[in-house]
Amino acid sequence: MNHPLPPETSDRPLAPGQRLAHSPRATLSADCVREIEALATKYPEKLAATLPALYLAQADLGFAGLEAMKEVARVLDIPEGHVFGVATFYTMFHQKPVGKFHMQVCTNLCCALRGGAKLFEKLCARLAVKPGEVSPDGMWSVEEVECLGSCGSGPCLQVNHEVYDEFLDTARLDAVISACRQGNVPVWGK
Ligand code: FES
Repeated sequence: MNHPLPPETSDRPLAPGQRLAHSPRATLSADCVREIEALATKYPEKLAATLPALYLAQADLGFAGLEAMKEVARVLDIPEGHVFGVATFYTMFHQKPVGKFHMQVCTNLCCALRGGAKLFEKLCARLAVKPGEVSPDGMWSVEEVECLGSCGSGPCLQVNHEVYDEFLDTARLDAVISACRQGNVPVWGK
């Protein structure tokens, strides 16, 4: 799926996959709370709603930091420790602000054998951003991650929620960066 840039001034919860680059709030919006409450009714156990609730909280607050985790625990009425464990296990949840375009490169074994580490270095150089940092204009952040689920055709790059594999050539990397600069995460293969 393609996720366009969220409007900076929107006070509505954003769809999963969209995120603000930063959060002006530490508590969830009323709409987001309502969405999480509605979500919880779809599962036999509230604990099962943790992942999608964290997605909503991350979209609403911009990242899934401690405040977001506590809010999810409060709204679902589940232990904070459980939410913390889930949020810190999965790399799709960001515990601190990320860029509008968060670029994740798999450097796990299969991708490493096919140039994952080089791709990661190239990406950092192209964007002039270091791992764990957000570029001064708020556009970019990069992260080295474990398996992105496309081990047979790596190295793999994920931009927000779009995954690109068979991604060895520099021209394609530049094309994705350039599309992002124009406000879009291009859909792989199109
Ligand atoms: S090892 Fe890179 S996608 Fe699985």
